[in-house]
Amino acid sequence: KILILDFGSQVTQLIARRVRESGVYCEILPFNADVQRMRDFGAAGIILSGGPASVSEEGSPRAPDWVFESGLPVLGICYGQMCMCVQLGGEAKGAEIREFGRAHVDVVADCELFEGTWSVGAREQVWMSHGDHISAPPPGFKTVAVSEGAPYALIANDERKYYGMMFHPEVVHTPHGARLIKNFTHKVCGLTGDWTMASFRQAEIEKIRAHVGKGKVICGLSGGVDSSVAAALIHEAIGDQLTCIFVDHGLLRSGEADEVVKVFRDRFNIKLVHRDASDLFLGELKGVTDPEKKRKIIGKLFIDVFDEEAAKIGGAEFLAQGTLYPDVIESVSALGGPSVTIKSHHNVGGLPDYMKLKLVEPLRELFKDEVRELGRELGLPETIVGRHPFPGPGLAIRVLGEVTREAVAVLQKADAIYLEEIRNAGLYNAIWQAFAVLLPVKSVGVMGDGRTYDQVCALRAVTSTDGMTADVYPFDVAFLSRVAGRIVNEVRGINRVTYDITSKPPGTIEWE
Ligand code: XMP
Repeated sequence: KILILDFGSQVTQLIARRVRESGVYCEILPFNADVQRMRDFGAAGIILSGGPASVSEEGSPRAPDWVFESGLPVLGICYGQMCMCVQLGGEAKGAEIREFGRAHVDVVADCELFEGTWSVGAREQVWMSHGDHISAPPPGFKTVAVSEGAPYALIANDERKYYGMMFHPEVVHTPHGARLIKNFTHKVCGLTGDWTMASFRQAEIEKIRAHVGKGKVICGLSGGVDSSVAAALIHEAIGDQLTCIFVDHGLLRSGEADEVVKVFRDRFNIKLVHRDASDLFLGELKGVTDPEKKRKIIGKLFIDVFDEEAAKIGGAEFLAQGTLYPDVIESVSALGGPSVTIKSHHNVGGLPDYMKLKLVEPLRELFKDEVRELGRELGLPETIVGRHPFPGPGLAIRVLGEVTREAVAVLQKADAIYLEEIRNAGLYNAIWQAFAVLLPVKSVGVMGDGRTYDQVCALRAVTSTDGMTADVYPFDVAFLSRVAGRIVNEVRGINRVTYDITSKPPGTIEWE
């Protein structure tokens, strides 16, 4: 196992992902977490992340002394390198040349991290992002690579197994970075790469059995990746002790409700309650146009219906949830300010506490990519494990303005055509999220000899890594016209299609 101490870098999670891709389990703790917790974790090596502070500032963060007393190998990245440098008796200061973005380093000495990759004399591309740099490395360190702005771009003390990188090996713009990290986890720390989804599956099944005993578990199933994988895994562990509740609000994409029932009830033999509550949801949404009101209504109804069904089942002691690792990583609090609520996400799910159920969260340690891999391992279909993210309130926030059954049906058809064309063009996996939006706007068109006066449909497709920022997907115009042609011809009620070319920020991914 590897312990990553976080100094607040935007890309600390990428370090964790690269470590895990090397087949080694790791966790992230804040640099100022309780030292006993760090010790108890039982790591074979430590990585110090980057961060926004400057080591020369009064009171800037430092790694706990334990890190350098533990005898464990340490890899310091960016701010982590500076910390290591000053804590071990070197010096760092503000650089005259700041480097941000792509840079090149010259490799001037050999190092334990190089097997199968860098070598002396090579010039290598790296990703830099720093203002400070080292002016004198600590005693016992040699210089391994240099760049124009960072004379100590990579320093090493092979004897104590300490390595410091000014650049970011965890980002893709450092082409051999993943290999450098793998060499740290395997060669330097002596770990073997047995963290795979196949081994996780076996270990987690044992854990679930031990945790649940003979108890009954209920699980809200939405057809999304996380709840689907959680349900399949728990079912493998405890069979019929698990009952899934699928609250169908009638606002899913076309055909998805049927697929959920088919896959889980028919193929996996999971006990599944499918509650068609579309009348209830659409009834309460009648006349409501405000996006936040829609979210609140849907969130509340969802819980009410779930509770009702859970009560019918009776006797459940445990509630399964598809919580993922990024939801539980403790952030470095010193850096967060108050944030504004743009949209009240994550309002769906969560139960009133009178239910007092114990939680089963088998995906708590996993990143999204790992959850997908585990889903494949469990035999879930690609249409579920590879599926684009979908908001809890569903199509209610993609029918702008008032939501009616008719409008939802129109949107489902347009959306299905759009996604079908994206799949046929082989583009589905290159896109983070693609969907159609139905605008409450009518425009004039002409079809055959007649005038039409129908609604406008907007298409959205973005690339992103976490939904926090997003870029527009650059379809070619021929593709977009093909989709537009099909939608206008095949979907009654839409006579015009537009493509949304707003990135996030300043736009958001969803329109409401
Ligand atoms: P925005 O529109 O805020 O969306 O850029 C970012 C990501 O969050 C999803 N989203 C939601 N998910 N409930 C959810 O569970 C919501 O109310 C909600 N609103 C947006 C959105 O689909 C995108 O992936």
